[in-house]
Amino acid sequence: MGDASEVPDVFDPRIYAAGIPHDRFRALRDHAPVARQAEPEILGWPAGPGFWAVTRHSDVVRVLKDSRTYSSSLGATQIRDPDPADLPFIRRMMLNQDPPEHGRLRRLVSRAFTPGRIERFAATARERARGLIGEAVATGGEVDLVRTVTDDYALLNLTDLLGIPASDRGLLHAWTERVIAYQDPDEPPVLDAEGRPVNPRSPAMLAEMFGYAQELAAYKRTHPADDVMTSLATSELADAELEMFFFLLTVAGNDTVRSAAPGGLLALAEHPGEQARLWGGKVSMETAVDELLRVHPPVLSFRRTAARDTVLAGQAIAAGDKVVVFHASANHDERAFAAPHRLDLGRSPNPHVSFGDGPHVCLGAHFARLQLRVLYEEARAACGGVELAGPPRRLVSNFINGIKSLPVWLKEPTARPV
Ligand code: HEM
Repeated sequence: MGDASEVPDVFDPRIYAAGIPHDRFRALRDHAPVARQAEPEILGWPAGPGFWAVTRHSDVVRVLKDSRTYSSSLGATQIRDPDPADLPFIRRMMLNQDPPEHGRLRRLVSRAFTPGRIERFAATARERARGLIGEAVATGGEVDLVRTVTDDYALLNLTDLLGIPASDRGLLHAWTERVIAYQDPDEPPVLDAEGRPVNPRSPAMLAEMFGYAQELAAYKRTHPADDVMTSLATSELADAELEMFFFLLTVAGNDTVRSAAPGGLLALAEHPGEQARLWGGKVSMETAVDELLRVHPPVLSFRRTAARDTVLAGQAIAAGDKVVVFHASANHDERAFAAPHRLDLGRSPNPHVSFGDGPHVCLGAHFARLQLRVLYEEARAACGGVELAGPPRRLVSNFINGIKSLPVWLKEPTARPV
């Protein structure tokens, strides 16, 4: 079980360009639920020491809840090891901290995410969804939903929440692509003097974004508004913490929704029967949003590092080993979900782990669900259905389940099922 040559590879980012490798995950869940993975050099990125892949739902939850054993801080949270020199810097982000330190930042920033503030964004998000989908329907032909609707929808909602001028959304887009799409050939890496790719999370790569965050914070202190950056700029956060939090929100709040929105619409297009149930009001939008997040988890994996020797699902893990949980596999575990490969928009309960679990469970889950619910409601109101016009193009990444283009036909509203 521990021999990397006997078990399917789920590390190679190129695999995910063909969709979630369900067969490989199933084989791992059944035969090697904590499996050794090699980490060879790929696409110019240097080889790593390898890691344990955790694929069953119960083990994924256990790892995420037990931060004493499985640390977010020791080696941070990405599969690739950071440069040791960058670690102190990367650990300033609460994503890469353990309790109790993590709790201080989490409490501080949670205050900026009040349910009242999030709800106030619903009306703006709805208007935006209506406008973007309306324009796409009006073209009357094939449209790429990513380019015409979902990218702008996610980016503009985030600029609203943070309090960034909409005209700066291009900057947000560029920064987040650099960090998330770095394994994808469409996003050539920045190279250092020796021709090696520079880690997109290193201080050198983030200087421009941090400068922007400080400028924005200074502006918010003199022009306060009802937005998250005003809350953060006027809180007790140190400058370096504020920069890191801006970075975290820019990436965490952007690429995830940019993946979830087309991913959900793709699943609907691939399941016309379920789509008809939703369009006909036969199933609740709340359960539908969660089921679409289950079958298309925007985040594919997160890394922890063992803080002590331990045993998981019978496998010995040594202190210092990398442990990587695979959300996409947990969400399709036969042990936790009946008929996991069936899209059932009424599924309840639905204990998917798309938002994680434990102390780092997604802080933006409420905001994300709201955006998705509003988008699907407006799609239902504006068109008779979504039909695939060609295969989607997917991101080369073992971290984000990204969709780069999604060609569809949006049917006339008259085609609505009865
Ligand atoms: C469908 C959309 C989203 C998904 C699937 C998602 C997923 C996740 C996951 C899996 C984690 C846990 C990371 C870990 O285990 O280390 C997380 C954390 C986080 N998410 Fe989200 N996220 C989404 C949207 C958002 C949005 C819209 C925001 C903010 C605007 C946001 C902000 C955060 C933050 C700040 C954290 C770090 C929490 C901490 O370290 O305590 N997320 N998210």
